[in-house]
Amino acid sequence: MTEQTQQFEHTDSSGEFVRAVPLDEVPDNGAVRVVIGGRPIAIVRSAGEIYAIHDVCSHAQVALSEGEIEDGTIECWLHGSRFDMATGRPTGLPATEPVPVYRTKIEGDAVYVAVNP
Ligand code: FES
Repeated sequence: MTEQTQQFEHTDSSGEFVRAVPLDEVPDNGAVRVVIGGRPIAIVRSAGEIYAIHDVCSHAQVALSEGEIEDGTIECWLHGSRFDMATGRPTGLPATEPVPVYRTKIEGDAVYVAVNP
């Protein structure tokens, strides 16, 4: 294998951002689930932006990455709460608690996520 091999959990020089997924593996209006440091995180592309949101609904233990994505929001497939991926806040019931969101950056051909605030 060469140095081009894709691997998860490479940190950048600051140690803050972690390589999460190749950018071209994140589909338009789609999500990829990754696990970084034991945390499930949905890497999502919506309206040209890349988001990273905790991949567990705050209402029950289901994966948000399996939900519908629209205009910077992701819908929980189980009961229909929608979450703003910039803030993690639900925009409708039954969920009332936000889910964590993470900072992202694109470097080279990959998405990096800062798992610590
Ligand atoms: S499990 Fe997500 S809204 Fe109920």
